Amino acid sequence: MSWDVSAVRRQFPFYANLEHPLHYLDSAATAQMHAAAFEAMGAHDIHARSNVLRGNHRLAEAATLAYEAARASVARFLNASAAEEIVFTSGCTAAINLVAGALAHSLQAGDEILVSLAEHHSNFLPWQRLRERGVLLRALPLDAVGCIDFSRLEVQLGNRCRLIALTHASNVTGALTSAADIAAVVAAARAVGARVLLDGAQRVQHGPVDVRQLGVDFYAFSGHKCFGPTGIGVLWGRREALAELPPFMTGGGMVGRVAIDESSWAEPPRRFEAGTPPIAQAVGLGAVLEWMLALPWERIRAHEEALLLRLLAGLMAIPGVALFGPANAADRLPVIALRLATHHSHDVCQVLDSRGVAVRGGHHCAQLLHRALGVEETVRASLALYSDADDVDALLAALHEAARVLA
Ligand code: ALA
Repeated sequence: MSWDVSAVRRQFPFYANLEHPLHYLDSAATAQMHAAAFEAMGAHDIHARSNVLRGNHRLAEAATLAYEAARASVARFLNASAAEEIVFTSGCTAAINLVAGALAHSLQAGDEILVSLAEHHSNFLPWQRLRERGVLLRALPLDAVGCIDFSRLEVQLGNRCRLIALTHASNVTGALTSAADIAAVVAAARAVGARVLLDGAQRVQHGPVDVRQLGVDFYAFSGHKCFGPTGIGVLWGRREALAELPPFMTGGGMVGRVAIDESSWAEPPRRFEAGTPPIAQAVGLGAVLEWMLALPWERIRAHEEALLLRLLAGLMAIPGVALFGPANAADRLPVIALRLATHHSHDVCQVLDSRGVAVRGGHHCAQLLHRALGVEETVRASLALYSDADDVDALLAALHEAARVLA
């Protein structure tokens, strides 16, 4: 049985409310939101709106239960050992900044952080800022198509490395970091006593993740990229990895005892959730992850791969198109970066938009990756489980048109 796109589109209010036909191929930036998230957030704010972890009345208790149930859903989605390993943040960027900011307290001058040149700025700049503390930043280079060159791991990993921060899937090329490469990174990190963080922002949209199987220490992602609300993100941390971190932000809800000279901190995850968290958004995210957990991912992957192959074949037939990323569809997500001759990506995007095709142009917050590929910016098309062959064909037709119009 194949994946039924029309049936799934009926579960996305976006598709029911489109005033004009639009081929939305920018799900890597923000995916459309599933009805389960709208409904759960609306119901929560009507029936259980109150603050969490602070009140004794019935609404506060209902809100706390809903918030903690969402945490349990995230734990199931990631196959975490316990809900206490899930920290809610405002997004993936905030989750990575949390680790960098908390880790900063224990770093010494001369300690090292290892990243790659494929990273989104969110998984590069928080680490680069640690240079202010004398921390050395090292980076794994990329191969000719923009994939991380793991053959350089041994050379780039110093004895004083404290953390390796890598993407689980590139937001530009769609290249997946393989389980074998992650296992090699984890083994190398263990040998020098370093932690490993994976940026899962792009990967989560394409199915549940097993953090225990990955063997890493931290995993970060955003709700809006996996059919949930904006303003919510997740940091998963292995219990002992979270336990050794001090808080990043301080404020209400994250303390043990407060005294004038010194205060003590709550245990994780509350230690990292200062202030009122994004409660309704967490509830929405929990609902959408439960929906995702029940999906037939093998069929969805086959559907996405078929679309990717259709797109790649069509792109290769357009004169002047240059493609980046792995040649093998199994090694990538349905995310494609391309250049159309020497045309600026923004010009191409504008022609595409005028034909009802929404894609992203620019450096996609990954300037280092682009520079390594010898370009400044690309056009990026990204497909999701609600994309279909019409979307792909519309993109291909619009690119032919762009090539003609811009020539
Ligand atoms: N990180 C998002 C993207 O790649 C915004 O488009």
